[in-house]
Amino acid sequence: MPQHVAIIMDGNGRWAKKRFMPRIAGHKRGVESVRAMVKACIQRDIPYLTLFAFSSENWRRPEEEVSFLMNLFIRALEDEVVKLDRNGVCFRVVGDLTHFEPKLVELIARAERLTAGNKRLTLTVAANYGGRWDIMRAVQRLLAAQAGQGGELTEADLAKHLAMAYAPEPDLFIRTGGEQRVSNFLLWQLAYTELYFTDLLWPDFNAAALDAAIASYHNRERRFGRTSEQLREECAAQPPLTGAAAALEDQQQDA
Ligand code: IPE
Ligand code: IPE
Ligand code: MG
Repeated sequence: MPQHVAIIMDGNGRWAKKRFMPRIAGHKRGVESVRAMVKACIQRDIPYLTLFAFSSENWRRPEEEVSFLMNLFIRALEDEVVKLDRNGVCFRVVGDLTHFEPKLVELIARAERLTAGNKRLTLTVAANYGGRWDIMRAVQRLLAAQAGQGGELTEADLAKHLAMAYAPEPDLFIRTGGEQRVSNFLLWQLAYTELYFTDLLWPDFNAAALDAAIASYHNRERRFGRTSEQLREECAAQPPLTGAAAALEDQQQDA
């Protein structure tokens, strides 16, 4: 199973337009798909789910749409956080929250505090997030931390200042809505992520669609720059499981 699935939830507006409804109706329906994904990831033992909800460029949308999205976020937090907590979900938000209204910022802080100890699934919502913003901020933090120290900088030095330093990099990226671009999502972290694009619109995306994405992921060979032959040799060289580890594996297979 992928350990971290990151999704660009796109196509809400088109879903609504197809039904002669206002775009915001699509956003409202999109919340259902979010619920379904949280449940599906818990059921599949996927420990990290990251959802792109609002990009730093989405402020360019009509004012009513932006304010509807903000209110939808507020309502979703009010309605869902207790349920998330009960289901062992650790909730986090990444992005520049400075331009959000204080009520929303407070709800986010409260939700993060309440669910901080949960271990089953880490659900991250990227809100007013941009990959370039994230990298720029990490560079500034790194420079501040390094001040006057000099010395050689490594990728790891920078990565630990990124907004999602608490999570492994995504194994599987999914974008719904048919567009094949990254739209300033997790730029640094997607370097070796498997990319999956589907024409399904976000409100139509469900557990079966997630399974199709995971099946595609399982058919990929993640070489990280090496050759297929090298990977096969490494696999063959891995010692067989013995003792407790083998027993645990048998148990898991039986279950
Ligand atoms: C994604 O759906 C939701 C947000 C960006 C907030 P869109 O609103 O982009 O839907 P389309 O792409 O116009 O159909
Ligand atoms: C990307 O969707 C951002 C989110 C889903 C939050 P957009 O619909 O804003 O992306 P573009 O503008 O088509 O690239
Ligand atoms: Mg879109």
